Amino acid sequence: MLLCYLLVASAVEAQSSLARELAPLERLQVENHIYADGQGLPVGSGTAQQGLTLYANLCASCHGNRGQGGSALELVGDRALLDSEFPDRGIAVYWPYAPTLYEYVRRSMPPDKPYSLSVDEVYSVVAFLLQINGLLADAEITVDKKFLSRLEMPNKNGFITSDR
Ligand code: HEC
Repeated sequence: MLLCYLLVASAVEAQSSLARELAPLERLQVENHIYADGQGLPVGSGTAQQGLTLYANLCASCHGNRGQGGSALELVGDRALLDSEFPDRGIAVYWPYAPTLYEYVRRSMPPDKPYSLSVDEVYSVVAFLLQINGLLADAEITVDKKFLSRLEMPNKNGFITSDR
């Protein structure tokens, strides 16, 4: 009986040592998702005009000052589709939805500082990326949840769904 009690007690102890408070960054990672249709995009906005300086300061060192690539891949390119001989990884070809571009930048870029940009900063830098890809009519357009949810990316239908 005593042995049984000890086993239960140690199991409870083991379980409680697995449970812990999430750190603020982990909380952001698991609690707030942004979906392809724009669900989950936060309230806020930015323009390509505002994004230009941010991009120059935080992104250009790796991706080139106009997104042409550098130590990291290009963000702008020609528009060779993914099933062509030399597919292009530019945003206009590689991203079927604009809201997930927002999600990617906020949770991954710059690589050493995920989630470091404010909501408006992410909108601004995404606006700049859309502009240099020729997907924004002018640099002063307000890019926000509504705009990104409605934006039709040029290669939206160039992807197939996989069960993997
Ligand atoms: C220290 C270098 C570095 C900096 C600075 C940096 N990136 Fe990146 N970025 C990368 C690397 C490396 C990848 C590829 C990651 C991978 O494929 O897993 C990447 C990938 C990306 C992609 C996905 C490209 C694609 O089509 O697959 C986007 C978009 C992007 N970065 C945007 C940004 C933005 C916006 C900033 C500034 C806020 C930024 N990056 C700053 C290194 C960097």
